[in-house]
Amino acid sequence: MTASTGTDTVWKGGIADDLSRTILSAEQIATRTAALGAQIAADYRGRDLLVVGVLSGSFLFIADLVRQINLPLALDFISVSSYGDRTRSSGVVRMLKDLNQPIAGRDLLLVEDIIDTGLTLSYLIENLRTRHPASIAVATLLDKTEARVVKIDTAYVGFECPNEFVVGYGLDYRGRYRNLPYIGVLKPEIYQDE
Ligand code: IMP
Repeated sequence: MTASTGTDTVWKGGIADDLSRTILSAEQIATRTAALGAQIAADYRGRDLLVVGVLSGSFLFIADLVRQINLPLALDFISVSSYGDRTRSSGVVRMLKDLNQPIAGRDLLLVEDIIDTGLTLSYLIENLRTRHPASIAVATLLDKTEARVVKIDTAYVGFECPNEFVVGYGLDYRGRYRNLPYIGVLKPEIYQDE
């Protein structure tokens, strides 16, 4: 089921057959995440950091990222659903799960899996600003800058992402492929057939 290339793990067969290519290996993700974590720890030392995961796509990234931030941070999660077709968001966003705690006066770090048009995050930032946090910054594993419709200030970016539909390491297509340990491009026939 798995094959190793050096220290890297690549799945053979199974859901890996639905990818046209791999764009980021598990090791590349881990190395970059460690660097981002160290940078965040340095930037937020002595502050009241609340890391907010935007569910569901960020669940693996946030789990790995917070373990690289050596600070007494707090963690919370928010879940939004963006209406649109299966591979594009529309900017009309519905709150599915709100934060569990007040954020006034706290330093928020929003953690996303990917920023595409930016519409989901821009809604979320507007919404959270009304609650008067001390600051809001964004960390995203992937940034599809080519697809951007609204401007988003991204303080921490893992990787620039090609303007293609990618899955794995938390990212899904219709709820599937989140468990793939690395990130790849889905074969177009997978979403054309459905
Ligand atoms: P935005 O509102 O267009 O920036 O879309 C953000 C959300 O769309 C992300 O949090 C993902 O859930 C989803 N998304 C955008 N591009 C991709 C992709 O290539 N693969 C999987 N999900 C994506």
